[in-house]
Amino acid sequence: MFLPGTMTVNDDGMLEIGGVTAEKLKEKYGTPLLVFDEELILKKINLYKKAAGSYPGENQIIYASKAFLCQGLAGLINKTGLALDIVSRGELFRARKGGFPPDRMFFHGNNKLPVELEEAIEAGVAIFVIDNAREAGLLTDLARRYQMKLACQLRVTPGIAARTHDYIRTGQKTSKFGVGIETGQAEELALWIENQENLILQGVHSHIGSQIYESRPFRELIWVLLQFLLDLRRNHGLILEDVNLGGGFGSPQTEEDSQVDIVSLVSEVAGELATTCRRESYPYPRLLLEPGRSIVGEAGTTLYTVGSIKRVNNSKNYVAVDGGMTDNIRPALYDAIYEGFLANRCREKPEISTAVVGKCCESGDVLVEETELPRPRPGDILAVPASGAYSYSMASNYNGIPRPAVVIVKAGEADMLIAREGKDDLIRLDRMPDRYK
Ligand code: LLP
Repeated sequence: MFLPGTMTVNDDGMLEIGGVTAEKLKEKYGTPLLVFDEELILKKINLYKKAAGSYPGENQIIYASKAFLCQGLAGLINKTGLALDIVSRGELFRARKGGFPPDRMFFHGNNKLPVELEEAIEAGVAIFVIDNAREAGLLTDLARRYQMKLACQLRVTPGIAARTHDYIRTGQKTSKFGVGIETGQAEELALWIENQENLILQGVHSHIGSQIYESRPFRELIWVLLQFLLDLRRNHGLILEDVNLGGGFGSPQTEEDSQVDIVSLVSEVAGELATTCRRESYPYPRLLLEPGRSIVGEAGTTLYTVGSIKRVNNSKNYVAVDGGMTDNIRPALYDAIYEGFLANRCREKPEISTAVVGKCCESGDVLVEETELPRPRPGDILAVPASGAYSYSMASNYNGIPRPAVVIVKAGEADMLIAREGKDDLIRLDRMPDRYK
């Protein structure tokens, strides 16, 4: 049984998260319910801070808000002093409503709309991570119009294929993100930006993918980026201040997944950057990291209620719950593997091997491919731990299913972060043409 963070099992065999029982959470908020463990989020953030602190130059940890964002979380992240990665005006809006200061925001994305750039400039976003030449052109025009100087990093494609699922790999040469180093496009665009009066080229950025458990791809990334910086220095006398290595540090989803030791992984990466810079007599750049999943992934547990239970073909068991791919599409989309257990019967011996499926009209609507459970009964609470990242943020209303509620627990208290959607929310944007009435 995977019990990250403050999760424990009490004497009644009931799961508790942050000192609140699963039964109480279900009673008060209903299911499906995504429960975040505040202590674990803060612990992860502190591990990142500690590890990055071993780097001799400056550092900045940026939370990648695409993993999970709401006003409350923006408030919590703000209090820790981390910066925020946003990729749309929607994330900008939500984070600002949560009181997050734009001067600690980094604006990412491969196709930022002109209106998004305008809103970000007006808000005073700290850094624009430029993805391509068109965006650089738009930005310089806007900067002129607003009579401002805008700080930028250039996203480059380093040509590194990290060992992870194809859909979440981004550093390979054919990626849709960034400009290629090898083709010379990155150097050309870097110079172009540098020559714009109202753009300040502060550094380079790269994100090689997600769910990376080893330091090797990051070390390779550092060599490639440093080479690029050295070329800029040698060929053009340019010295850049920022090296942004993106996010992608792995986050375990089951007990078997290797536990990533954030401190040693990040310290190794920081050490590599420092050593490479010393070797090349390059002034230590500011080191930036953008973790998302590894901050909120393990800290989120989804609670469901068991409904129908069946055995088919005398060979396969199904336990269906009241959510599914609408609140967590990751198993269907990336073959992500999660664990599931009965949160109200944690001390009972497993008796059956079963799949846990959702209620959507879709065979691929599987949450847990296979797990061992005590003989389940309708009404049992099924917990899927370590499901906090990219679950709610990719949730949908497929099959007319409202999105779940989200709460955060700490020291025996639970607070609502996002209320459960209701039926009215589903039709809020519908319009009825008169002729159909
Ligand atoms: N920085 C940039 C520029 C990114 O594109 C991403 C993730 C991150 C940081 C954070 O990566 P993390 O530390 O969370 O791995 N929906 C997929 C993940 C897509 C990740 C997109 N970019 C999933 O559910 O696995």
